[in-house]
Amino acid sequence: MSLGLRAGRDDDAADFIALIGACWAEYPGCVMDVDGEVPELRALASYYAGQGGALWAAEDGGRVVGMVATKPLGQGAWEICKMYAYPAQRGSGLARRLIDAAEDFARAHGAAEMRLWSDTRFDRAHRFYENRSYIRAGAIRALNDLSNSMEFGYAKALTGVSVVRLDAAAAVSAIPRLAVVLKDCVDAGASVSFLAPLAIERARAYWKRIASQAAIGETMLFAAWLDGVLVGTVTLGLVMAENQKHRAEVRMLLVAQGARRRGIARRLLHAAEAVARDAGREMLMLNTPTEGGAEPLFRAEGWRQLGAIPDYARRADGTREAATDFWKRL
Ligand SMILES: CC(C)(COP(=O)(O)OP(=O)(O)OC[C@H]1O[C@@H](n2cnc3c(N)ncnc32)[C@H](O)[C@@H]1OP(=O)(O)O)[C@@H](O)C(=O)NCCC(=O)NCCS
Repeated sequence: MSLGLRAGRDDDAADFIALIGACWAEYPGCVMDVDGEVPELRALASYYAGQGGALWAAEDGGRVVGMVATKPLGQGAWEICKMYAYPAQRGSGLARRLIDAAEDFARAHGAAEMRLWSDTRFDRAHRFYENRSYIRAGAIRALNDLSNSMEFGYAKALTGVSVVRLDAAAAVSAIPRLAVVLKDCVDAGASVSFLAPLAIERARAYWKRIASQAAIGETMLFAAWLDGVLVGTVTLGLVMAENQKHRAEVRMLLVAQGARRRGIARRLLHAAEAVARDAGREMLMLNTPTEGGAEPLFRAEGWRQLGAIPDYARRADGTREAATDFWKRL
């Protein structure tokens, strides 16, 4: 059997309709009325070409088993549409190849941001998009159709470095990628609360807690994307004693190994400082391992050093390491 991607054609209509119908049938209440609600399926290649977009079909042994489309929305934003694969193909890497094709096409045509809508019932799809660094963005939209569809909006920056403060919905949807970044840093020896090797479930549980704190205003959570991949994060801790409400704490400044020395940590710090200042905080504090690369960053960013505390934390091999406190007036 050979799995291949090719341009989608208008005469794939019957195959596309069967594929989408099979995917919708997995979820209760999803019904398909092609001519009443999705007439574009009768000639889908023309529909996307007419809007400056493109359509792909994935074939396995000559049978259509997956599809995806993309189209421009204006102002550098593009949309992923009609992303479907038969259940038997899941886990095969097919969905990844499909969305890669759509993102590469959009990028080559100047896309700076990707967006998509996904039915609130399609929870498997949400995990897929979240692992691809998409985060929840904006309000739910209701289609007022036969399926009573309500959809989550997802988005991500596709090119260059972008830093975003995450609201509660965005923070929850960023958990899978934040966990990957945390595990990457801890397993490479970073001294950030955990010991290596870090189980991915523990990393997810950590970010779930931070996301719920972000939802009630106890923390502010930021994430950074490099060329469409969520690679960095920083947290601002806001819960201070009542006589110290003018302070905030910088925590968990992390950049995945493959994305370092591109100024991403610096951009994260700048974003956190600006938001802290806007929120009335006048001073930031942080504690960082004395050795490990972050100290030069804080000094270069105008942070004042308080001195090193020996044996502050334990490494995975049981030895101890020092940590340094820094502070900065905003
Ligand atoms: C520390 C960390 C966040 C830096 O991320 P980064 O995106 O590579 O940092 P930046 O590219 O923004 O670096 C900005 C500046 O900081 C300094 N810097 C950063 N990493 C450095 C290193 N390993 N050695 C020396 N200087 C370093 C440099 O001055 C750099 O500017 P330059 O590249 O123009 O010389 C990243 O290495 C990391 O995640 N480490 C593990 C976790 C950790 O220790 N976090 C700190 C806890 S508070």
